[in-house]
Amino acid sequence: MIIGVPSETYPGERRVAQVPAVVPILARDGLDLLIERGAGARAGFTDADYERQGAGISPDRSHLFSKADAIAQVRGIGANPVSGQADLDMVRPGQVLIGLFDPLGAPEAARQLAKTGATAFALELVPRISRAQPMDALTAMATISGYKAVLLAADALPKMFPMMMTAAGTISPARTLVVGAGVAGLQAIATSRRLGAVVQAYDVRPAVKEQVESLGARFVELELATEGSEASTGYAQAMDDDFYRRQRELMAHVVADSDVVITTAAVPGSKAPVLITEAMVREMRPGSVIVDLAAETGGNCELTRPGETVVESGVTIIGPVNLPSTVPYDSSSMYARTVAAFLHNLVADGEFRIDLEDEITRESLLTYQGEVANQRVRDLLGITGAAPAATDGNGA
Ligand code: NAI
Repeated sequence: MIIGVPSETYPGERRVAQVPAVVPILARDGLDLLIERGAGARAGFTDADYERQGAGISPDRSHLFSKADAIAQVRGIGANPVSGQADLDMVRPGQVLIGLFDPLGAPEAARQLAKTGATAFALELVPRISRAQPMDALTAMATISGYKAVLLAADALPKMFPMMMTAAGTISPARTLVVGAGVAGLQAIATSRRLGAVVQAYDVRPAVKEQVESLGARFVELELATEGSEASTGYAQAMDDDFYRRQRELMAHVVADSDVVITTAAVPGSKAPVLITEAMVREMRPGSVIVDLAAETGGNCELTRPGETVVESGVTIIGPVNLPSTVPYDSSSMYARTVAAFLHNLVADGEFRIDLEDEITRESLLTYQGEVANQRVRDLLGITGAAPAATDGNGA
């Protein structure tokens, strides 16, 4: 079985879906890696590095697609709206595709993909169950975003993070507030603490308090009715406008008191809630920094512009997009391992087994046998009738 890995074509994307160190892990499942020439270069992996581990090098993209039984990408169509189109003509019916497809943000792409007859798996749809942890690409990438957000903040802040007692005076530590203590938020807390800041954090899911405190940060208690804020999937549920208005009121003084605010609050499939208004920014001290990790889904700060840095009333508001791509060596390594773990679950006796009884396979299946297979994506597209996954219990 050949796993083909093409170059990423999304503008500015530096990651690659497989790395040399993972080639032997794939081989244990009887999978050979074929990688497009130069695909790893922007992440720091040469063709020779791949070849030394036993991978083949494909001279061009169409050759790669024609040879591969499965294609692994970081950004498939949906997550790569413009350039991703060019790949559709090369996909064969029954060919397995694995990658990030932004199925809830760009569901139309799934409809196009279904027409190719591909069996596509969206890693965003991998359920958050213990068994699936090694294949959780979103968690791996969010870890990197949380880390990098703190570095961006530290770079932009006119202060240092740690307290320092020097002959030239005592420097007080920077104060960081993290709003949304999920995967990225917890990593932002840990990184900020390592640099010496005093850290506070808030999340609508009350269960997070203990995790925040275990990292040495203070959990901000707000008088908000948070029952029902956590869905059975472990993600946050959307709350109503009144809730967010009250949250902003209660959070305003904590925001004003912080040197750095890192926001990560997201509700999957919905626009990010606005938690910091322009008026709240004006109450912050000049020189303060906001890093809005929700920039790509609308932003938690009213003034955020995705991919840009805005300065308003002396406050720097950074709206980074695709932070994992700025650390491409490690983000590719982590992503490649999640793909290998996903493939391991999919392969039996050297063949792909589309076992719809398997929760991970069933939930992450985006297109199958010419149809959009995931029920949530079908609902978004207004496709009526049960998904093929639900009617064909035995799979392929
Ligand atoms: P995410 O990226 O969707 O959201 C980030 C955070 O924002 C979440 O913690 C969410 O509760 C919070 N949030 C949403 N609205 C908010 C608001 N108005 N104010 C403050 N915070 C708000 O979520 P992420 O980080 O991808 O994961 C969420 C949770 O999923 C994790 O903390 C964990 O409990 C669970 N998880 C489980 C895994 C597993 O069991 N395999 C793997 C990874 C995560």
